Amino acid sequence: MHSSSADNDLSPRASWLQERAYAALSHFDERTPLIYRKPIDLPGDVRDWIAGWGSSSLFLAGPIGVGKTHTAWRTCRRWLEAWYAPARPWNGGPDLRTYRSTALFDALRPDGPDEIRRTLVGELQACDLLFIDDLAAAKASPWTQERLFEIFDERYINRRPVIITCDVLPNQLSEVTGPRVSSRLAEMCQSSVVLLEGADRRKETAA
Ligand SMILES: Nc1ncnc2c1ncn2[C@@H]1O[C@H](COP(=O)(O)OP(=O)(O)OP(=O)(O)O)[C@@H](O)[C@H]1O
Ligand SMILES: [Mg+2]
Repeated sequence: MHSSSADNDLSPRASWLQERAYAALSHFDERTPLIYRKPIDLPGDVRDWIAGWGSSSLFLAGPIGVGKTHTAWRTCRRWLEAWYAPARPWNGGPDLRTYRSTALFDALRPDGPDEIRRTLVGELQACDLLFIDDLAAAKASPWTQERLFEIFDERYINRRPVIITCDVLPNQLSEVTGPRVSSRLAEMCQSSVVLLEGADRRKETAA
């Protein structure tokens, strides 16, 4: 653990929180895909969402390559940092889950073991923050739409946040997730749909 003279002035509680934050952030960095570890400037609306600490969810929309996934990973990290802020009442360590939609849909398929799937659904209903990347990347089957409904309905009624990245807006997701999930998502993200615009950054890098 790093320590400095400034650290020595911390109260025991602040110092305990700092150690925990350091461990949680190191673990998060290790599981963050390499290119998304790089710090970037977050859009103002996203910074407001983090500062708000509200019960709302965050929906990052925009065309290919504008930076949705990178923004979402860095937002998760800032959310994690904020969890350990000394001013915040301590409520145990956070459970932050991150999924690509395609991996999530695979994990929810009916042909896997029931118990594993039920456990996963329960965990995704209850975790403190759920980030699903590229929600419209693949169409969910009617079975998967039902499981998504179980997950989203529980989070919706308990005001647990999600971060979604997607190339369409929440009200255009019906085809992918089914109408009941897209309706809930539209309300959950009502005040925090952030449209990222601009050129495909991958092409800019290649140019
Ligand atoms: N704010 C930023 N500053 C600098 N580079 C960025 C920024 N946002 C994203 N990038 C870089 O741009 C590239 C594309 O970003 P990213 O993968 O997040 O795009 P995306 O919108 O999720 O694309 P897709 O729709 O294909 O999933 C990556 O190399 C990423 O590191
Ligand atoms: Mg992406």
